[in-house]
Amino acid sequence: MTSAEDFDRWYADRVESPVADELVSRMLGLPPDLQSTSLLTGTGLDEVVAALNLREGQVLLDLACGRGGYGLEIVRRTGCRLIGVDFSAVAIDQARHRATELAIEAEFQVGGLTDIGLPAASADALMIIDAFQFAKPKLDALAECRRVLRPGGRLVITTWEALDAADERLPLSMRQVDLAQQLPAAGFADVEVTSKPEWRVIEKAFWQQSLAVDAGDDPAMQSMQAEARRVLEAFDLRRRVLATATAPLQ
Ligand SMILES: C[S@@+](CC[C@H](N)C(=O)[O-])C[C@H]1O[C@@H](n2cnc3c(N)ncnc32)[C@H](O)[C@@H]1O
Repeated sequence: MTSAEDFDRWYADRVESPVADELVSRMLGLPPDLQSTSLLTGTGLDEVVAALNLREGQVLLDLACGRGGYGLEIVRRTGCRLIGVDFSAVAIDQARHRATELAIEAEFQVGGLTDIGLPAASADALMIIDAFQFAKPKLDALAECRRVLRPGGRLVITTWEALDAADERLPLSMRQVDLAQQLPAAGFADVEVTSKPEWRVIEKAFWQQSLAVDAGDDPAMQSMQAEARRVLEAFDLRRRVLATATAPLQ
């Protein structure tokens, strides 16, 4: 699944599936109102918030935001201003709707990982939660992040990296993630890439649990189970990473 149209369908199916949302929320230990379409856990979110280092009124760009769940939660915690960007127009509609339901002020717009559509230096902090693996080419996406971040702004990425980039059992796009090398190459400073085995324990339990649910004719659960089979087959070939960096001062 790589195109905006694929994700549009995926998000449209998800609306009809309270079962999928309940499972994600419970297994990842998320706050009750947070609509995730990723695998960032509740404690992982705490680490992301700390790394973003946001002050009230500062602008957070949630890139590849999906339904906007994590960004909206961070507005609640920090009082930041949120701009969410995703290439799925359906996800962006759902994010706007969710912000209205939660009475949280936020902007959401369609844009891509390599063409965000915002002016230079317009964000104080930027996060990409579980979507950097989709970026093509990776260095173009990081250059675009650097462009929209103000000098000194914080970048936080959660994603997966292959243990062996030559292992064709993993998708090429994931094998091309190497943030310890790519973030400095894109000009970022203070680069730290940390392995998160504790997030993986929860991720594995989540995929296993998803296979125990009766999917019936729920397309979101069927798609989750197909993904669970693919992921569990190659589970030990990748590692989970949290990457943090700072946009250079000039
Ligand atoms: C696993 S979901 C994560 C969504 C959200 N960050 C979250 O954590 O709930 C991946 C997201 O990446 C978006 N995406 C994938 N490729 C993209 C691209 N090239 N440009 C913008 N968004 C993209 C998808 O539409 C999807 O919303």
